Amino acid sequence: MGNALSVANRAAMTSASSRTTGGTVVDRGLEGIIVGATELSNVEGLAGRLTYRGYDIADLATNASFEEVAYLLLFGQLPNAYQLADLRVRLGANRTLPEPILAWLEATPKGAWPMDVLRTAISGLAMFTPYGEDDGAHPSNPRAAIQLIAKTPTIVAAWDRIRRGLRPIEPLPDLSSAANFLYMRTGERPIPEAERALDTYLVLLADHSYNASTFAARVTASTRADIFAGATSAIATLQGDLHGGAPGKVMKMILDIGEPSRADAYVRALVSRGERIMGMGHREYKVRDPRAIHLEEMARRLGEFSDPRWYAIARALEDASNAVLQETKPGRHIYANVEFYTAPTLYSLGIAPDEFTCTFACGRMAGWTAHILEQVGNNRLIRPQASYAGPPVTPWLALGKRASASAIGVVH
Ligand code: COA
Repeated sequence: MGNALSVANRAAMTSASSRTTGGTVVDRGLEGIIVGATELSNVEGLAGRLTYRGYDIADLATNASFEEVAYLLLFGQLPNAYQLADLRVRLGANRTLPEPILAWLEATPKGAWPMDVLRTAISGLAMFTPYGEDDGAHPSNPRAAIQLIAKTPTIVAAWDRIRRGLRPIEPLPDLSSAANFLYMRTGERPIPEAERALDTYLVLLADHSYNASTFAARVTASTRADIFAGATSAIATLQGDLHGGAPGKVMKMILDIGEPSRADAYVRALVSRGERIMGMGHREYKVRDPRAIHLEEMARRLGEFSDPRWYAIARALEDASNAVLQETKPGRHIYANVEFYTAPTLYSLGIAPDEFTCTFACGRMAGWTAHILEQVGNNRLIRPQASYAGPPVTPWLALGKRASASAIGVVH
């Protein structure tokens, strides 16, 4: 369909990121705008620091398990031994999928994009959960959050096997979330290094303040839609490559480059075509993403157990990207973000590039659900305004009097 915006109005809507219209400040992309408060996590973009409820992710990445972090986010404090054991039991008990969801996965075309499958299956889980008779809403509570956190990896792993023509593997309740995810993909319990790497990845990805997908989840929850609706909005929003869809494309670059010595020429050619380097740059961080530091080390160590090439190429790609971006975008402060070393890390764990974003969702489900519960606990409908940039009030034009020569608006 043709775009009916006039050239002038389109310019008004897409010009500088910040402008003033009739006393209303408009900021495309809400850059720098504080739209709410949270106790869950804090991103300090200039210092390059990320904390979950006050704990530095550098400490959490080294010391905490994903289950401890999920507890911290959902319940406000680190669990004691009893609380942690209890959460692990609850997660283990909630991993199994309803039979009709498994049957639907089996009936889904094998070529379906994993994020489409995950988004649809997460939405579908709502149908197997009790709901309020008046409004169809499911209770948004920690029990539902645990169900979503537990089932997300099962969906991803089941689809991985089904699309490869294999039978899904039943989850094992006694394994950690990370070990169970890897087990459900292969049927083999992972080596400790692989379990630890994925566990750390899930810790690092668990929350990130009001990022786009979390904001989407909170907007949905703010209408009193339930936690399944909020989680579905979040997954839909994660998909794009300006957010969680980048790491698969980083891996494509690494595979295309093939060997470290070719990284520089590859990046120069890409930037000269006006393309963005995936895995580089961040809206909040103006230094190297603090999560990239840990992911780089993990990618390097995993290379010792699988193929060291992926880390070596990624390292050369980051160096080349820094050099080229300093030349072409001076003063922009574009550095490696969380997605950059996610690619060689997950690839070394045997995860396919088109499943990277789904694996991201396995960790972030803890943050999304915690944000939804925080929103529900202190709710106010999120409903901003827009600055109107269309035509002024105009008299009605009868059908026969409208322009006929132009093809504008005709669907081709
Ligand atoms: N490669 C090349 N140039 C980049 C870039 C990248 N990865 N990231 C930003 N830039 C450039 C833009 O072209 C722009 O340059 P210009 O002002 O000369 O046109 C400038 O830096 C600012 O970009 P902008 O899009 O306004 O910044 P943002 O805050 O919206 O960007 C991202 C944040 C993440 C969307 C952006 O860095 C990006 O697209 N990165 C690649 C995708 C990615 O890694 N996504 C995962 C994010 S965790």
